[in-house]
Amino acid sequence: MNFKAIVFSCVALWGATAAVAQTPVYLDDSKPIDQRVEDALSRMSLKEKIAILHAQSKFSAPGVPSLGIPDLWTDDGPMGVRPEVLWDEWDQAGWTNDSCTAFPSLTCLAATWNPEMATLYGKSIGEEARYRNKSVLLGPGVNIYRTPLNGRNFEYMGEDPYLAAQMAADYVRGVQSNGVAVCVKHFALNNHESNRYTTNSIAGDRALYEIYLPAFKAACVDAGAWSLMGGYNLVNGQHATYNQRLVNEILKGEWNWDGAVISDWGAVHDTKQAVEGGLDMEFGTGTDGLTGSGNSYDKYWLANKYYDGVRDGIYSEEQLNDKVRRVLRLNMRTAMNRNRPWGSINSPEHHQACRTIGEEGVVLLKNTDKILPIATDKVKRIAVIGENGIKRMTVGGGSSSLKAQYEIHPLEGLQNRFGNDVEIVYERGYVGDTVTYYNNVWTKQDLRDPRSAEQLVADAVNAAKDADLVLFFGGLNKAYHQDSEGTDRESMDLPYGQNELIEALVAVNPNIVVVNISGTGVAMPWLDKVKAVIQGWYLGNETGNTLAAILAGDVNPSGKLPYTYYASLDQCGAHKLGEYPGTPRHDPIEGDIIDMHYNDDIFVGYRFTEKNKIKPTFPFGHGLSYTTFEYGKATIDRKKGTADDVFTVTIPVTNTGDREGSEIVQLYVSDLKSSLPRPVKELKGFSKVRLAPGQTENVSFEISRDALSYFDDKAHDWVVEPGKFEALVGASAGDIRSKVSFEVQ
Ligand code: GLC
Repeated sequence: MNFKAIVFSCVALWGATAAVAQTPVYLDDSKPIDQRVEDALSRMSLKEKIAILHAQSKFSAPGVPSLGIPDLWTDDGPMGVRPEVLWDEWDQAGWTNDSCTAFPSLTCLAATWNPEMATLYGKSIGEEARYRNKSVLLGPGVNIYRTPLNGRNFEYMGEDPYLAAQMAADYVRGVQSNGVAVCVKHFALNNHESNRYTTNSIAGDRALYEIYLPAFKAACVDAGAWSLMGGYNLVNGQHATYNQRLVNEILKGEWNWDGAVISDWGAVHDTKQAVEGGLDMEFGTGTDGLTGSGNSYDKYWLANKYYDGVRDGIYSEEQLNDKVRRVLRLNMRTAMNRNRPWGSINSPEHHQACRTIGEEGVVLLKNTDKILPIATDKVKRIAVIGENGIKRMTVGGGSSSLKAQYEIHPLEGLQNRFGNDVEIVYERGYVGDTVTYYNNVWTKQDLRDPRSAEQLVADAVNAAKDADLVLFFGGLNKAYHQDSEGTDRESMDLPYGQNELIEALVAVNPNIVVVNISGTGVAMPWLDKVKAVIQGWYLGNETGNTLAAILAGDVNPSGKLPYTYYASLDQCGAHKLGEYPGTPRHDPIEGDIIDMHYNDDIFVGYRFTEKNKIKPTFPFGHGLSYTTFEYGKATIDRKKGTADDVFTVTIPVTNTGDREGSEIVQLYVSDLKSSLPRPVKELKGFSKVRLAPGQTENVSFEISRDALSYFDDKAHDWVVEPGKFEALVGASAGDIRSKVSFEVQ
């Protein structure tokens, strides 16, 4: 090789080496993420910056092709990964490899009162989202259960901010351990579905900080959620998804949160407000990308309009760069993170997780004459009655509807469990919902039935009268107005004539167990006439096996209610004090809206019933077991060596029954004298302990200043007032077993 060739090849080699050595910072995993963000930002044109702030399809936003930054894919939902839809439409894409595990509803997760279940849940659903290559999972839903009518209560974690906060945080950690972002939703005060696009939730700072924000704060600040979804509604006059107060002052200001705010689908209505109100990504505006001429995604509020505004100096580049940084950070934490695990889907582990969470969340509300667990030495013939015994429930409910790989319904679960030991006869009893497609996911069922309502009842009564035991599977079913997004329930009554049917069954057979499958509280006028009631939740793939295990006693139920079970709406502050569903008003800027004053303020759920000495059907935190637990005397010590007031409360709990069981021990704190009104007591700790028969465990709780403080809206700060407090320990809000006073200096 001649001299020149040698020189040339050396130079080429040097150049290549130099090139390799010069990996751009934004692509260098070893560099701090914010340094990578700045580097990427510096390489982006205005057009590229605007492009990543809004959707390019139903569920995706573009990356930066010129820099090799990948698209950002999102997908629903809180209980399972939604099947693929067409680029521009809600309709199914018809894939054959996007079936998923449908996990139990989030209300069931909350009912486990077990943060380990939240971690298991988040990790498992995150693995499925990762496997489907989704970088943002559009969940969890953490809106407070303010009215039993809310169509989406099943997607949320109950009425208490402390319980919802603890469970949401570990769900978030679990999901994000997969390199998948959560998108905690719907921020905030999105507490019912009627008029969800136009409701203006009006609430003071105490309700905001003490009730409606804690779960979001725990998800964003404690667990570091990487994205958050703004709700459709308005809050105190401005749309939530770009609300100055909620987004700029609290979320990005006081909480100093570094994630990306993503709009709900179609929640954006104005460029200036969205730009200045802290929105970072716009999805779902006019989402059928085919309407009108050209690419309708260019017509998004944060698309061409925003581009022109920045170009013309109406909007600052710095403001734009903050949004771009947040979206780039989201992308680098997920799609660009080369060290993410691979995920998995429909695995035995996920099916087991579905079952374990369900088994820990099912709540035994009533059990007289020890009718449960089923004694197969006596019970030889079971009549299973009710549409929810056979209805597929992993579909329906709106955006959380899923294409589960399989679903074991209750009847099948009972047949699996009891096989030939017991004769099982089934009768429909009523026809509720015969829809066979939800968002174009086929239910694989044809539930039409030619019989009249009277004939259905007669056939059910006929089957019941000769049975040793009647298991009634009823409740709601995620059809419109029956636990579904976009529609609230129209009353607390069970639909489809179920109450009359239950009365007819009781008349011929007193040995009846009602399994209520729903995501929210229902009225139970027949409660005193039935021997047992189970709150069954939507339990996903393993529904039937989960419920059969509980009914058979293979699993000792340990779930407790994450919300107060009202007997009627006038026991609920949102209705008693008005003004559900709200008062129409024309707003000069927002147009026709519906004002909803949160007159119950901080008194939501048991905070309302206890203040007004109302006895609900079942109290918050209620749940029975097949064994019994005895609580000893609570004691309290001031924690040694702590400067400020920190206390430890300890109480012995004993399993006094004949079988192993878990008990959720609850700690409430009462401020006996305060300058501002406070609830009678508030949940400030819980611990789920598993005890063998005869075993005693000393359960301890720490009471920190957080647990003593209330939000003073005048001082705009959390305050602890010196004086007398009480620690109350119990099995539910309505079943306090021991209390102890203490003084705060
Ligand atoms: C829906 C829901 C939201 C969901 C989104 C995408 O309208 O409000 O929870 O994630 O749109 O389907």
